[in-house]
Amino acid sequence: MKLQILSAFIAAHATHAVGVTGTLSDPRDFDADLNMPGFHFLPFPFDWQNDPNGPLYDPVHDKYHLFYQYQTPRLWGHAVSDDLVNWTQLPVAVGTDNWYDAGGVFSGSGTVLDDEDQSVVLTISSSDNREIFVAVPKDRSDPYLEEWVLPDSNPIYNTTARDPTEIFQTTDGRYRIADGTPEGSELWECSGCEGVDDIVEGRKWEKIGMLQNKVEGQGYWECPDFFPLLGDDADEDVWVSKFSNTGDHWYTGTYDEDTGVFTPFDTEDRMYDQNQQFYASKTFLDSRGGKERRILWGWLITMPEGSEWQGLQSVPRLVEGIDGTLLTTYPIPELEVLREEEGAAELENLVIGDEVKQLDFEGRMFDIEADVEVEGDGCGFRVLWDGADDYLDVIIDKGTTNVRMLVDSSVVETFFDGGRTSRTQFFSVGSKENQKIALIGDGEVCKFSSVKLWKMSPYEFDASKVQ
Ligand SMILES: *[C@@H]1O[C@H](CO)[C@@H](O)[C@H](O)[C@H]1NC(C)=O
Ligand SMILES: *[C@@H]1O[C@H](CO)[C@@H](O)[C@H](O)[C@H]1NC(C)=O
Repeated sequence: MKLQILSAFIAAHATHAVGVTGTLSDPRDFDADLNMPGFHFLPFPFDWQNDPNGPLYDPVHDKYHLFYQYQTPRLWGHAVSDDLVNWTQLPVAVGTDNWYDAGGVFSGSGTVLDDEDQSVVLTISSSDNREIFVAVPKDRSDPYLEEWVLPDSNPIYNTTARDPTEIFQTTDGRYRIADGTPEGSELWECSGCEGVDDIVEGRKWEKIGMLQNKVEGQGYWECPDFFPLLGDDADEDVWVSKFSNTGDHWYTGTYDEDTGVFTPFDTEDRMYDQNQQFYASKTFLDSRGGKERRILWGWLITMPEGSEWQGLQSVPRLVEGIDGTLLTTYPIPELEVLREEEGAAELENLVIGDEVKQLDFEGRMFDIEADVEVEGDGCGFRVLWDGADDYLDVIIDKGTTNVRMLVDSSVVETFFDGGRTSRTQFFSVGSKENQKIALIGDGEVCKFSSVKLWKMSPYEFDASKVQ
């Protein structure tokens, strides 16, 4: 799957012209590239990106880091943020300099250890699915953690797997990593390890078994993610195990530390997003201010024709337990700082029959919150509409009571019922006219009891460190 996408990308970029006309530090030009999103993270220089890698919160410098699969062969791109909204672009963090990463630096995770230095370790996989290696900051006192080193003891272990998780600990302090294999996720433990020096030392890690076996018929378990479910509405000791293959699928269940086995409550197929092009997602534990929450990023597989950027990160989503053992994913509240108060609109009690009702609001980047009662199958929103035949319809499933929609030029992420389900959709913006919005009905009752709309500003992007 990844290979097919790559060849499509190369074909699309046979003639590749750079035309940066934005401001000095923010190179995005939203008029030149109508598909360019404003509040979804895009790396500069604009290029290919795929899986989010090693997102982490650094409590020492109070900053968030996002790494991601970048360029060809793959490297770890790197950006840093104070609020998960605005981003400073940093140079590539991990490049290809060693025998084990010669084909590319593939996906992995980031961990802040519980030791005195709050040591940071990136766990990474090689392109041949055989070596798991690590990178550590060259200078822990640099607030940006700009430079990374690959210890000589790499790789830390050899296996037939990819996409290591972060390093997590048992209650008695043993360090573990899960990774993805053709059969499910396997579990490794650092034998007798006491701190970061042992962790980054080769030959100390031992495979202790399968964390979870795949269900018959599933493919390679890419990008496993494994974490305890948080939130007031989550039962205690519920763990989430997720893998990627034709979309991102999650299970909740129990984790027996002694045997190292995760047992799902059931094997029903549940996805973070209805769209299989929401992929290779990765969560991290955000412990800012002593409060713990889980934040999720997913790779949005969108390759707009004529754009220099290809592939996108979703907005950061909060993952929270609901009904004891289920979960929701929902945009983090921080994004609301980008809502523009001027021009915001609020509508009440609109009942739409078999019609398209245009609203008095225009935009290519906006945020919608709506309470609805839908009895038909065709109720929804028509967005990025040129007033004629070019538009994207976002249909609301029957029975839904509330909708949150983030429209960002060529990408629309919609969350239903507080994030119990979500659907990402892509759209190719044909012209500057594609800014109109309508409510659509299907002859049955579509009641929009409340609709709030805000234009969204692009995030502040400082790319001066790479210009
Ligand atoms: C991020 O950018 C927004 C929009 O310009 C601004 O309101 C907000 O204060 C910025 N956040 C930080 C931490 O600078
Ligand atoms: C992994 O394999 C390489 C190449 O065969 C070898 O040099 C290295 O020592 C092995 N590492 C471990 C931790 O077993």
